[in-house]
Amino acid sequence: MTHRRSPPPPSWDFSLEDGSEKAHGLFSYLRYFWDDKAIASITPSSRYLVGRIIRAAQPEGARRVIEYGPGAGVVTRQILRRMSKEGRLLAVEMNQKFFVALSRRFHDPRMVLRRDDARLIDQIASEEGLSSVDAVISGIPFAFLPAPSRHELLKKTAALLKPGGRFVAYQITLHLVPLLKKYFRKTNIEWEVRNIPPHFVMTAYK
Ligand SMILES: C[S@@+](CC[C@H](N)C(=O)[O-])C[C@H]1O[C@@H](n2cnc3c(N)ncnc32)[C@H](O)[C@@H]1O
Repeated sequence: MTHRRSPPPPSWDFSLEDGSEKAHGLFSYLRYFWDDKAIASITPSSRYLVGRIIRAAQPEGARRVIEYGPGAGVVTRQILRRMSKEGRLLAVEMNQKFFVALSRRFHDPRMVLRRDDARLIDQIASEEGLSSVDAVISGIPFAFLPAPSRHELLKKTAALLKPGGRFVAYQITLHLVPLLKKYFRKTNIEWEVRNIPPHFVMTAYK
């Protein structure tokens, strides 16, 4: 995996799926949430929500995937498990602690991790030579972005997708739906209650 803008070496661990370290991982997640409200969720996505996101995004065999806001990497791991062996995953995480934890956790040559703001995705993707993307998966809280930024990010996302490509956003409200209808051809909405808090999974097709 390639990392960009590497911060200093970390002194913490973040292992959410590793049995005995799970409680520590959850505690860390809560602490990170306390420091940075842009994380927006007090726990990582549940396996039910992750399953729903992955079924919507269909990364099986995909060659180019982008993830906004990987956080602890619970969705990231499932994308990597399914995408093509020759594929490329560009993950953009703004929070420094998550960035460091992800850098330590993932060592997959297909993955590029950038510590950056997803709102700059056009610039980041161009720097990474990525276009005509199969799927973009987003966990970032669009509700926290100013309205013009929401429009701009969706417009940039649609421009990066190949025809028929999918944008999957998971959020606690449906506020994004009218915007998705503006920038995408078709939108599908599901609700996953087995998550704290329950989330909508919105899939928009280019
Ligand atoms: C609700 S958490 C989702 C984390 C993880 N994907 C999951 O499913 O558990 C939102 C994540 O988006 C990140 N984030 C928020 N705003 C962002 C932005 N503008 N650019 C990149 N990452 C952002 C947060 O730091 C956090 O890791």
